[in-house]
Amino acid sequence: MLVHSQAIKALSPDDYLVIEQEHKLLEQYLESLRDACSCSKATQTPDCQRCDHEMQASCQGRLPSFLFHIIDLASKHFEHEETIMLSRPHVTKDYEYFRAHRLAHEAIIDQLYALSEECLALRNQANIAEIFNQFYKRLNALFEGHDQDFDDPFIKSTIHEDKKD
Ligand SMILES: [Fe+2]
Ligand SMILES: [Fe+2]
Repeated sequence: MLVHSQAIKALSPDDYLVIEQEHKLLEQYLESLRDACSCSKATQTPDCQRCDHEMQASCQGRLPSFLFHIIDLASKHFEHEETIMLSRPHVTKDYEYFRAHRLAHEAIIDQLYALSEECLALRNQANIAEIFNQFYKRLNALFEGHDQDFDDPFIKSTIHEDKKD
């Protein structure tokens, strides 16, 4: 995230704030997902058998809201990021990098829906901590990959544009 925090400053203060705050929200979301089950924090191989029935039911009950929340959070963030991109000089909807970035956002949303369905289908049979764990790992990989491939290069490009202006 170092690249982010340095490079992002080339955006206007308002745009910078929006992107920075939303990236922070996504990071916080991932942290709370990682720590959602107390047994998944305690051991490398989470085992819900060690939790009493009430705890297990509470973990199961919290899973759907985690799944829906990330879709909401990511959709709003992607929309804001695309609006900010389009407000940059020379960026239009047909601009190759904008189109690729937007397609990548759409692909993530599709994957979030697919992942959510997968998790919900497993909810009543599998170890709930393991589901949280897998969901966390896959989301983390998705967002890290996206940052490296799209967000960081976009933010870096704003520096070059600002130097040219
Ligand atoms: Fe993005
Ligand atoms: Fe982003």
